[in-house]
Amino acid sequence: MEEPIIQLRGITKVYRVGVETIHALRELDLDIHRNEFVAIMGSSGSGKSTLMNMLGCLDRPTSGEYRLGSRLVSSMKPDELALIRNVDIGFVFQSFELLPRQTALENVELPLMYSATAGGFRARRARAAAALERVGLGNRMDHRPNQLSGGQKQRVAIARAILSNPKILMADEPTGNLDTATTGEILALFTQLHREGQTIIIVTHENDVAAHCRRVVRLRDGRILSDLPAEEDPEVASHVAGAREAQAARLAAAGAAA
Ligand SMILES: Nc1ncnc2c1ncn2[C@@H]1O[C@H](COP(=O)(O)OP(=O)(O)O)[C@@H](O)[C@H]1O
Ligand SMILES: [Mg+2]
Repeated sequence: MEEPIIQLRGITKVYRVGVETIHALRELDLDIHRNEFVAIMGSSGSGKSTLMNMLGCLDRPTSGEYRLGSRLVSSMKPDELALIRNVDIGFVFQSFELLPRQTALENVELPLMYSATAGGFRARRARAAAALERVGLGNRMDHRPNQLSGGQKQRVAIARAILSNPKILMADEPTGNLDTATTGEILALFTQLHREGQTIIIVTHENDVAAHCRRVVRLRDGRILSDLPAEEDPEVASHVAGAREAQAARLAAAGAAA
């Protein structure tokens, strides 16, 4: 088998607040391979965001080793981490994080402004436009965030995240601010990107979201509680079965009414 793209060994993260010591992650081992589609789940405070920040090179572990590709990032300095982060990782957040006065196109293009290799104005524009086309927003490029729906805003954020073809796309509760229908739309987009070869890691507490992923890693108290193919995760499986039954009941009711 190919080497994992992400390799965590004995990752521990300790926060000290006053006299208190909080063990957010404890001796965590985790491998993620290219083109995996992983949900990280667990109740509030279980360490999901801490793990995501570590994976995304926003933060460093207190101890343990993190290998991203061939590089040992756990021993890198903050400025080296920032470089890795810009090139290898695309982020999507629950709150979209778009600039309100910029158009969709300008928001997507923004990361390229700081890139030495992105080419001139026209080249950057063309790349940003292509990314918006890819997420189905070719007809909304000149809209500002307040002229877009929640789902469209998240599409803009996804376009911005995939712009530089990052090795890994990471999303922390990307559907947390969206209704059910829009959540479905965004999940379909992640599924499409996964099919196109993207490696995706999503933090979520919704079984509905996890059901679209291929692998479910559950945390509890900073440890891995379970790590299963999505269809073998008991909670996700029972959610899917429940949704199927509800759908069948709706169809039956519609049939009886007709
Ligand atoms: N910056 C921080 N300083 C101190 N404690 C923190 C910090 N960030 C998270 N924690 C603590 O670490 C634990 C894990 O938090 P977090 O990773 O945010 O969990 P989750 O995302 O699963 O809700 C919690 O007990 C939280 O209070
Ligand atoms: Mg969190």
